[in-house]
Amino acid sequence: MSAFRDGLFEGKSVFVAGGTSGINLGIAKRFADLGAKVAVLGRNPEKAAFAAADIGQGAIALTADVRDYGAIRAALEEAAATNGKFDVVVSGAAGNFLAPALGMSANGFKTVIDIDLIGTFNVFRACHDLLVTPGASLIAITAGQAINAKPLQVHACAAKAGINHMIRVLAMEWGPEVRVNGISPGPISGTEGMARLAPDASEHDAYFERIPLKRWGEIDEIAEAAVFLSSSSAAYVTGTILDVDGGSQLGDASRMDVEKGLA
Ligand code: NAP
Ligand code: COA
Repeated sequence: MSAFRDGLFEGKSVFVAGGTSGINLGIAKRFADLGAKVAVLGRNPEKAAFAAADIGQGAIALTADVRDYGAIRAALEEAAATNGKFDVVVSGAAGNFLAPALGMSANGFKTVIDIDLIGTFNVFRACHDLLVTPGASLIAITAGQAINAKPLQVHACAAKAGINHMIRVLAMEWGPEVRVNGISPGPISGTEGMARLAPDASEHDAYFERIPLKRWGEIDEIAEAAVFLSSSSAAYVTGTILDVDGGSQLGDASRMDVEKGLA
């Protein structure tokens, strides 16, 4: 159930890089439901077309790789020509796979850095002169790996840590016209990310125990955060990483000392 009023983003232009599936598609849908003109971008044209049809309301499907600056710039220009300059740009394209550092080639590491970190720079750099100013909201989708070291994810940890710091620098450089924030989702059910990182369903109950709110999150809960950060309610919020993770980043809430009140 959304706390935001119908029509809140009526006529606004929203671009979601990586918006053709999962969490980012959920964000795109929520903005469209609130009246926005939405464009989504991914590499796979069939997937992008399917996502745009799913969103409805004239959503635009675009195909480009965030690693290719020229292609991203062209896609942004195409979306802006149809929907108008952007009020909101979300950068959420990412890649991840579990592998130890010694089982990862230099190209495997570079691939995730290129998609997540450099891809986010490309999207934000390329959209800047296509933003509605003052007032535009940029949101990068980061992750808890930016803060908490995770074995088998040296690439994603490094990439997301870079994104967190990039958010802060851009917030300093681009204010007051543009606000730049991040959302750090916890484990979100029904997503590609969790299929890759927690594939064994028999381990999920134990996983929930470690999370203060004792469950996985929902895509809608990330979409709500994106709407909040792009609304006038967040007009004085920039350079922030909003954790929407059930408290996951606080540590292991299943420990005995928590139960004994000693934590
Ligand atoms: P997902 O469904 O795999 O979504 C990834 C999106 O990015 C898709 O639209 C994909 O489309 C696009 N994409 C991937 N590589 C791209 C590239 N090189 N150029 C352009 N588009 C590209 O992932 P998700 O699990 O929902 O995760 C979405 C975001 O949330 C990611 O930033 C992820 O790190 C973050 N996150 C997820 C979780 C979770 O629980 N799932 C937790 C924390 C953070 P194509 O494949 O067609 O390119
Ligand atoms: N273990 C070790 N290395 C792996 C790997 C794995 N599971 N998967 C890919 N790699 C390596 C490849 O071997 C290659 O390195 P090499 O050239 O030295 O052999 C490198 O990573 C690039 O792989 P490639 O398949 O060419 O990359 P891509 O650009 O086509 O795809 C990925 C990018 C690998 C990140 C792919 O998983 C992807 O597209 N993911 C998007 C969806 C996603 O991850 N969603 C979850 C978001 S949290």
